[in-house]
Amino acid sequence: MAEKNVYIAPEEIERERGIINLIKSNYATPKFAMVETFGCQQNVNDSQRIEGMLMEMGYTLTDKREEADVIIFNTCAIRENAHARVFGNLGALKHLKAKKPSLIIGVCGCMAQQEHIAKRIKSKYKHVDLVFGTHVLWRFPEFLADVLQHRERLIDISGEGVIAEGLPVNYDGGAKAFVSVMYGCNNFCSYCIVPYVRGRERSRKEEDILSEISFLAKDGVKEVMLLGQNVNSYGKDLGKEDAFADLLSKVCRIDGIERIRFMSSHPKDISTKLLETMAREDKICKSLHLPLQSGSDKVLSDMNRHYDRGKYLSIVEKARELMPDISLTTDIIVGFPTETEEDFEDTLSVLREARYDSIFSFIYSSRVGTKASQMENVSTEEEIDARFRRLLEVQNDISYSLNLRHEGNIERVLVESVSKTDEAMLTGRNYANKIVNFKGDRSLIGKFADVKITKAQTWVLFGEQV
Ligand code: SAH
Ligand code: SF4
Ligand code: F3S
Repeated sequence: MAEKNVYIAPEEIERERGIINLIKSNYATPKFAMVETFGCQQNVNDSQRIEGMLMEMGYTLTDKREEADVIIFNTCAIRENAHARVFGNLGALKHLKAKKPSLIIGVCGCMAQQEHIAKRIKSKYKHVDLVFGTHVLWRFPEFLADVLQHRERLIDISGEGVIAEGLPVNYDGGAKAFVSVMYGCNNFCSYCIVPYVRGRERSRKEEDILSEISFLAKDGVKEVMLLGQNVNSYGKDLGKEDAFADLLSKVCRIDGIERIRFMSSHPKDISTKLLETMAREDKICKSLHLPLQSGSDKVLSDMNRHYDRGKYLSIVEKARELMPDISLTTDIIVGFPTETEEDFEDTLSVLREARYDSIFSFIYSSRVGTKASQMENVSTEEEIDARFRRLLEVQNDISYSLNLRHEGNIERVLVESVSKTDEAMLTGRNYANKIVNFKGDRSLIGKFADVKITKAQTWVLFGEQV
């Protein structure tokens, strides 16, 4: 059951709100701030919280570093290249700080939550004023006020997983929004840093989630993506079983919300009830992200995933039986320490059987403190690189052939923007979250359009408005 102290008390939130007002009257106007996000949707959502707080303090958001008076990096720790990108970008801020000593630079998020990283920033990146971890994000106003007032460096990576409701969020006014339904992870997959930097699983209360989505719907949001590291265990800490399917049904009843997506769904916890709810409810996109990681039973066991390829493929079969048009996507790790050539062949064979619309593939990256970081590598870097290339080849063929199935269909597309490559084209997404480009008027941005798909490529679909 949830610890009582998981939810931050309203008085504490009020205190932070008081500090927001204090900064507003003493410091922030007229000044600029920017939050740069590295990492997953959960981080994007957290950045929106920091932006929301900054905006209420009176800061204007900018996307130009040169203009900013406050720069916050919200970081990711999932793979070594995520770390490298942040350190590279932090180095580049040094000259900005030299030119404008009043600039405040902060680093937060999953990477900052790790002690060895906080230490390294402290000793090697002296131009960073503020480091704060994921568990104290809600105390950002207090930290910023402290730095503004005392001009001393502040590092706080204390605390454990909490839920803080009632602080401002910058919903950027688009038709799509992310809504976190839970935080943290209990699964300790042997390769993964997330449980160490995000704490234990904790679910937001249903009423808080539903009222946030109702608010968003009134604000013009049409599509919500419900987020959690494993949405299938939503509500377990509140003493409820299979609560995510019920939550989805309730979100479907909210007027104005027309499309619902969710991620991620751990195969060990997915229920038939969830698949049936997806099949029954028109508003839930027939699109499922079901991370496989590996197709080898031995590697899956070493990864501590708690399912095997048989169980995984039976879920895929059930999903297809209930939703013949379902679009499937997955995550694959290549080069897990114990992965041999044969194990990798097993992954390819699942790809061919499950037939994913697309995959997110990663080369294994050793993370400090995880179980897998203690395992010996059985393959060389060259072997792993070659596997990675083969994986993409196999998948590209599958993606292309599955994209062909859209040709001739009339599909509903939520229009996002003008295409980056062609001014005359609009770009949006169909139910499967695939990019659809078509000629149309800018006034369609943020709205749904019916588009006849005329041509498929590996990564995009092209069509004509009907
Ligand atoms: N909670 C989600 C995953 C979040 S991380 C889930 O379980 O589905 C997103 C993806 O990053 C994972 O699915 C995995 O494929 C990949 N990943 C995580 N740790 C990694 C590591 N150490 N090296 C390479 N890829 C990793
Ligand atoms: Fe990481 Fe596994 Fe948790 Fe996903 S379920 S966040 S891969 S530990
Ligand atoms: Fe997301 Fe990266 Fe943290 S993937 S949860 S931002 S480690």
